[in-house]
This record gives sequence, structure tokens and C-alpha cells, in this order.
Amino acid sequence: MKVDRAAEEPGPGRQRVQAPAGAAAAAKRRAVAEPPAPPSAAAAVSARVARRGRRPRRVQADHQSAVQRLFQACRHVFRGPGTVPGPDHVRLLRALLDTMRPEDVGLSPNLKFFRATDAALRAPTITHTTIYKCPNFSMVILFLPRNAVIPLHNHPGMTVFSKLVLGKMHIKSYDWVDPDQLPDPSSSSSGSSSCSSSSSSDDSNQLRLAKLVVDDVFTAPCDTSVLYPTTGGNMHRFTAIEPCAIIDILGPPYSIEEDRDCTYYTDVPYSDRRHPNGGVGDLTGGADQDEGLRLAWLKEIDMPRELKMCSVPYGGPPISDK
Ligand SMILES: [Fe+2]
Repeated sequence: MKVDRAAEEPGPGRQRVQAPAGAAAAAKRRAVAEPPAPPSAAAAVSARVARRGRRPRRVQADHQSAVQRLFQACRHVFRGPGTVPGPDHVRLLRALLDTMRPEDVGLSPNLKFFRATDAALRAPTITHTTIYKCPNFSMVILFLPRNAVIPLHNHPGMTVFSKLVLGKMHIKSYDWVDPDQLPDPSSSSSGSSSCSSSSSSDDSNQLRLAKLVVDDVFTAPCDTSVLYPTTGGNMHRFTAIEPCAIIDILGPPYSIEEDRDCTYYTDVPYSDRRHPNGGVGDLTGGADQDEGLRLAWLKEIDMPRELKMCSVPYGGPPISDK
């Protein structure tokens, strides 16, 4: 696995470039916006109304912002590396994310990230902001201009909730094929769902069999998608059809120190290179064709040079971790 200092901001496109001055200034302005009224003020209003003998107006007890509630739920659910949320916890986070609106994290379709000026470029710059990060989880927002692509990459040992809050994007995702599912694995020289490229026997050129999980277009507002360490499409690619904003919750976050670096892949159609054991009819419902259980070979690659990402400060409603 390649390790470099640029990976201190791990994850897809971890190149860190100077944040646009305008964006940083705008974020700073929003960060000093007027704070919400303290709970004691609401209580005082309620008491005054009660003293006047009128029917007390209902005072909303929950002053927490949507992003604060999401943060607290994440803190409850993600208890450290190795945590894979159970069904109840998945429902909880999904329910909170499903109702998230762009304004809940300070977004507007007019933000400069979404303007069409980047659309004509071959590789539009992707902008990334971190709402919160701790060793157990991270909450980030990704901004993809039209035509931007986050190449096929993995999430080792991680559970990831992705909520598209703005725009329209294509998602393609894969999971590894379980070697035990392959026919007669003992006859394979490697005994696993991989084969060597004809160009080289280097490990870096190994192809590994994967099954397609998602290959679809999503338009906001839409339901939250979830991927797990070994299911749900742990390796995925995002392609912005229209400018997009995605809230991503990663538990745990990428960490080079804890061996959760991001790896990039290219996918090769299964039909281009059949499995060395012969057919995989059992996997494809007997068809032994890509059209059945759709298969592909994934090959590890370096981070694509055309992937350009910049990081900007979070400018939405603040989070308190007290
Ligand atoms: Fe991802």
C-alpha cells in the first residue's frame, strides 16, 4: 500500500490544496452568525405566559439542529474500529439522514462549487469539507460539479452512510466475490477469486473478481444508501450528472495508521478475462455471463492523476461535542 504524507487527509482525492479565499471567508462569516436563543429564554417566555393565566403556548423543547442530532446519533452508534452498526442503529442514522436538507448543513444551490464554470473542464475539482472528525467516525460533505468523478475506491473495514442532498449522480458499486462461492477453488493455483494479468505477474497487476451491487442514477432528494465492510457495495464510484452535494458518514474514518488507507481500482468487464477455473455459472444463476450476477475484475491502481480535490472549512450550523 502506498503511503505518503499527502494522505494526511485520507480518502478519495486526498490531495489538499489551498481553500479558495472566498469560500473560507464565507464560511467564517457563517460561523459567526447569530447564535440560537438559549433554552433558558424559552423557559422564561413559557413562565410569563403561564402567569398571565392563558393557555400556555407549546414551546418546542428540542432546539438542536438537524446536524447536531445527526452528530449525537453517530457518537452513540460508532464506538470505534470494528463497530458495524446493527439494524436498529442503521435505521436510526438512516431516518436522520433521509430528512436532511441542504440548508441543514449550510448549503444552497448557488454556492460557487455548483456553478457551471467547471463543467467545461475535463476534470472538475471536487470540494470536500469536514463537519466533524474523531477516531470513531467522520461527517463530511462532498461537492461535485457537473461531470466530476470520484473514481472507484474502497472503504476498508468501514460502514458508510451516503445521503445525496443536492443534484443527480450515477453510482456504481461492487463487493468482492467470496472465494468460497467459486466452483472448485482447490483446482485454482491461487485458491482465491483472483487471476494474474497477462502483462505481468506483479501483485499490483492482480485482478480480483467482484460482483456489481449498484449501477444506477440517483436524484436528490432520495433515500440514504449504506455500505458495509463486506456488503452493500464497499467499492464505489460517483459520477455527477448534475452538480451534487453528498453528506457522507464514515465509521470509522480512513486512517493510514490503523491500516484503513483508500485504494483505487479500475474495473474490467468479466467477459474480457474469464475465471481461471472455467465457468462461474453457479454465481451467475447458471448463465455464466455478465448478464446474470454481473461480474467484473477489479485491478488496483494509483490514485488517478486527474482527480482534483480541495478542502474548505465547514460553514454550516456548528456542532457541539460537549
Ligand atoms: Fe466513498
